[in-house]
This record gives sequence, C-alpha cells and structure tokens, in this order.
Amino acid sequence: MTEITGRAAVVTGGGSGIGKGLAGELARQGAAVAIADIQPDKAEDVAAAIRAAGGHAVALACDVCDPASVRAMQAAAVAALGPVSLVFANAGATSFTDLASMSDADVEWVIDVNLMGVMRTTRAFLPGMIAAGGGHICATASMAGLLPGWIPVHAPYSAAKAGIIGLMMNLALELKPHNIFTTSYCPGAVASGMKDNNGRYRPARFGGPEPVAGVQFASTDTTHSELRFYRPEAIAPIVLDAVRRNRPFVFDHAEQRRFFRETYADVVEACYDDIDAWEAAHGRPAANPTGAALRD
Ligand SMILES: NC(=O)c1ccc[n+]([C@@H]2O[C@H](COP(=O)([O-])OP(=O)(O)OC[C@H]3O[C@@H](n4cnc5c(N)ncnc54)[C@H](O)[C@@H]3O)[C@@H](O)[C@H]2O)c1
Repeated sequence: MTEITGRAAVVTGGGSGIGKGLAGELARQGAAVAIADIQPDKAEDVAAAIRAAGGHAVALACDVCDPASVRAMQAAAVAALGPVSLVFANAGATSFTDLASMSDADVEWVIDVNLMGVMRTTRAFLPGMIAAGGGHICATASMAGLLPGWIPVHAPYSAAKAGIIGLMMNLALELKPHNIFTTSYCPGAVASGMKDNNGRYRPARFGGPEPVAGVQFASTDTTHSELRFYRPEAIAPIVLDAVRRNRPFVFDHAEQRRFFRETYADVVEACYDDIDAWEAAHGRPAANPTGAALRD
C-alpha cells in the first residue's frame, strides 16, 4: 500500500487538465501538493484553489525540458513541503503531424518533454525517496504508448510514451528493495488542454511557443471518433486508487481492452506463432552454448 494522506506530492504539468485533476484529488485526500508547470500562472491558480478549499499547495515554475529547472523545482518542493514521496511525472505535449512533415526541433521537443521530462523528474526526486525509505512514482504515459499501433500520425509521441512504460516497468525492479513503486498511467481520452495547440508549451530551445493552432487532433479514423473524453477530476480518484495499491498500470477506459487485444496482444501472439512454426519446420536456430562473445 502507498499511503497518500499526510504525504508530500509533486505533480508536473499540474497547471491544466489531468495534472490539475490529480493535484486537486491529492489535496482532497490529504496530501500536500507542489504544482510544477511551465505556465506558472496556471500552476498558481490551481494551488490557490486548493488552498481556498482548505488544502496545502504551492506553485512552482518548471520546464521539464531543462535539467537545471527540474533540479531547482525539486529543491523548492522539498523546501516548501518537506521530503516528497509521491511523484506524478505528468507534464507532456503532443503533435498530430506526420513524421515526414515535422521539423527536427518538434520531433526532439515531443521526445524530450514526454520521455526525458519524466526521466529528469524521476531522477531529481529519487535520491530523496531512497533516503526516506519509500515512495511512489506515477508517470503519465498514454494508450498511444501501450498501443503504439493504435493512434495514427503520432509517431514521436507514441515512441516517447512507450519509453515511459519501459522506464517505469524496469525501474520497478531496481526500486523494489527501496520500497519505491512505479505506475504508468495510460489515459485513453481525457478532456484537457491537449486538443488545442500544444505548440504553445514549446520551450525556447525547440523554437519557442507556436502562436497558431498548428497541432490538432486530426485523425479521421472511425476508431477514434468513438472516443469518450472523461473529465480530469473524474479519473483522478481512479489513478490514486491504483497508486495506493501499487499497480504497475492504470487505465481509464475499460472498453479499450479490445484495442489492446486487437493491436498488441493478438499481434504479438501471432508473431510468436510464426517463430513456433519456423522452429517446427527448421529446428531451433544454432546456439552459442557457452554464451561467450563471438569474435569472427
Ligand atoms: N488528455 C488526454 O486524452 C491524454 C491522453 C493520453 C495521454 N495524456 C497525457 O497526459 C498528460 C497531461 O496532459 P493533459 O491532457 O492534461 O494536457 P494539458 O495540455 O491540459 O496539460 C499539460 C500541462 O503540461 C504543462 N507542460 C507542457 N510542457 C511542459 C514543460 N516543458 N514543463 C512543465 N510543464 C509543461 C502544460 O503547461 C500544461 O499545464 C500529458 O503527459 C499527456 O501526454 C493525455
């Protein structure tokens, strides 16, 4: 069990959408919350609303694409709230542009904000959590990361989100002795600022904010026209319930299990059937029985 009441938490990207919903629910359940966002005004609005409701919250400016900014945010969070044991690495941005048309800077930005942002946030808070003897890291991935063959025109984003799932699952192995657990939250469709122009979050290093709405949910695939967008405050209790129970994943759309089967589980099983059939026809590939390095 991961206790939430009485703990200190940080939520990156907490100024809007899913992060705002998580911050509010954490405070409602009795955690003190640092809301870190590249839009400090929005972070302050969220923190002020939590304080007005009787909770404990601070707003911190942070660009997860900037290692120094993440380290400064970690120090400020600990100074304000004490040791932080609940980390919600949630900041992210998307692009619905085909890969060939994307600029190099946008490809790097989408990978950096989504994957390296989670990596930096995790690394900044890990030493303190290890020293304190426990905690929980919940990273917001996406169904686009669990099912990279599902949402079209989304290649760098899907790659980054799949990377988050790899990071969280692998890290769980090395953090188990420290009583630190990891969760990949895979939103299916949540009403947030994400359907607007995500380029407005783009840091200067990648070309700066993009004023026009150049990034839109543009898919015409009927699979996605069925999507029901849930409210962030409605899914936050589901995420915290999974964190409390140290679950490796949390999903918010039960009906999407069929997409997992159709675009991932069944596809992978079919490829295992292929190697079974190959071995049945040709025998096993030649082995290197000692496992020694080959020098030919
Ligand atoms: N909304 C969905 O349906 C959906 C689906 C799958 C995954 N997600 C993921 O959920 C997370 C939250 O997105 P959302 O839907 O709430 O969108 P949102 O646009 O409402 O919120 C994103 C927040 O992240 C902040 N942010 C962006 N770049 C940042 C940076 N470099 N440093 C710090 N903060 C930064 C923004 O200022 C904003 O407050 C993202 O990681 C996103 O990829 C959302």
